[in-house]
Amino acid sequence: MIGIPKKYLLWFAHEHVDFRIAEIESICEMYDIKVTTILRPDEYPYWIIESDSEDAVKKIASRSISLRSCIELWGDGGSHEDLHRSLKEYPQGNMRLHLNNEKSFKVIVETFCKHFSQDEKIKKIESFSYLPIEGPVNLRNPDTALMYIEYYGLDPNTIPDKPYHLFFGRLVADGQRQLIRKLSLKTRNFIGNTSMDPQLSLIMANQAQVKNGDLILDPFVGSGSLLVAASQFGGYTLGTDIDYLMLHARTRPSRISQKTRGKDESIASNMKQYGTSSYYIDVLVTDFSLPVWRSDMRVDAIITDPPYGIREATERVGTIKRQPVIDQHQVASHIPSKIDYGLPQMFVDLLSFAANHLCINGRLVCWFPLFREHYADEQLPSHPCLQLIANSEQILSTYTSRRLLTYKKIRDPQDDDPIDDSNVLDFRVRYFGHGDETRKERRMKRAEQRAKNKENWEKNIKSKTAR
Ligand SMILES: C[S@@+](CC[C@H](N)C(=O)[O-])C[C@H]1O[C@@H](n2cnc3c(N)ncnc32)[C@H](O)[C@@H]1O
Repeated sequence: MIGIPKKYLLWFAHEHVDFRIAEIESICEMYDIKVTTILRPDEYPYWIIESDSEDAVKKIASRSISLRSCIELWGDGGSHEDLHRSLKEYPQGNMRLHLNNEKSFKVIVETFCKHFSQDEKIKKIESFSYLPIEGPVNLRNPDTALMYIEYYGLDPNTIPDKPYHLFFGRLVADGQRQLIRKLSLKTRNFIGNTSMDPQLSLIMANQAQVKNGDLILDPFVGSGSLLVAASQFGGYTLGTDIDYLMLHARTRPSRISQKTRGKDESIASNMKQYGTSSYYIDVLVTDFSLPVWRSDMRVDAIITDPPYGIREATERVGTIKRQPVIDQHQVASHIPSKIDYGLPQMFVDLLSFAANHLCINGRLVCWFPLFREHYADEQLPSHPCLQLIANSEQILSTYTSRRLLTYKKIRDPQDDDPIDDSNVLDFRVRYFGHGDETRKERRMKRAEQRAKNKENWEKNIKSKTAR
């Protein structure tokens, strides 16, 4: 329903901050929703937008994982006085639509970066006694939930006495954060060592704009976490992986408490666990560098986390022998040998696969690992048919991070499209090589340092006992 534009507060969880903008923009584009931004301090957990349609705002909330709640903003300010003043100026007619004697209500108090007791919260609620609240209180299932938020900044070490900003309004909808708990790896039937956590998997599905009935492929599927997330939004899912043991859940169990893999562990059993079996097509054991697909096969989105070569090998089928020969009697039981699959080549393959097999406007959403100090936009993999539309960083350590890249296919490939991987750095080579120093050299340096420390310590002890 279209009406007079109203202000809404988008109240975010303070996690994966760099992913918020991209996620909300992807959802808005997917549903063709236009909102006006009034205030968007990127690092704070809130944005203020304006929209003439509450349904549009509810649609955003129906998909967002980063969003905690969406509130029709009745008043806000940098001090209590400012908040009460702006609340008193809000049209009473609008309030009365939700606060008459037939509407039950409750007030939720939320304080960011500061804890208050229940009694203190009740006192805060009482300061709004001038509001035209007439209906009965209903804490479980109220007709109208009002929300009062005090924001005390981001730094838990320097919490001010008074909040930086205060907000009051009507709760319109909650985001989809309950899905994070629902898909928790702790309770999932089948997981692997590199299973993607549910929050990021779901954000990836939103970046890919997965809609009911879409066909979604993960070519490095592992334990299938990204398929699980995509199926939650109605995507029909399919995957491939080079690792037979992983796809058949015959690798070593990933939980410390588990000695052997259960017979029923599989991606299919995960889908069953979450009630999305009908959205699971299948997975195949295949090497991504040797695609098995028909050239006219099209998917709506590719969502993937390729191996970085740190916790799992980056390999492809191949041999360094010049002319390998397999004897006839070995053919049936032959296990192909593998060679290294360098990251630059893997990303060239991934982007050109996406250019060939995505529908127009279809999205490729993938992680790309890198060294933070060496980061430059030009290093990111590129392809003339794919437009990079989002790039969000997740910091992994002081030196390393990975970036979630979202590409949109803008045209079909042509024969003379230039493919260039010269700027894409091989994360694995750098990780183990660390500049010019090899891993062995670094280990030896550390051992030398330890020996020196021990020597100094012993000298110290001796001189103390001599005194
Ligand atoms: C980071 S893991 C993916 C984890 C997955 N997202 C999950 O949630 O379990 C990367 C996967 O790529 C697979 N892989 C490595 N080289 C491959 C290749 N050449 N072709 C296909 N899969 C490959 C590995 O076996 C591994 O399962």
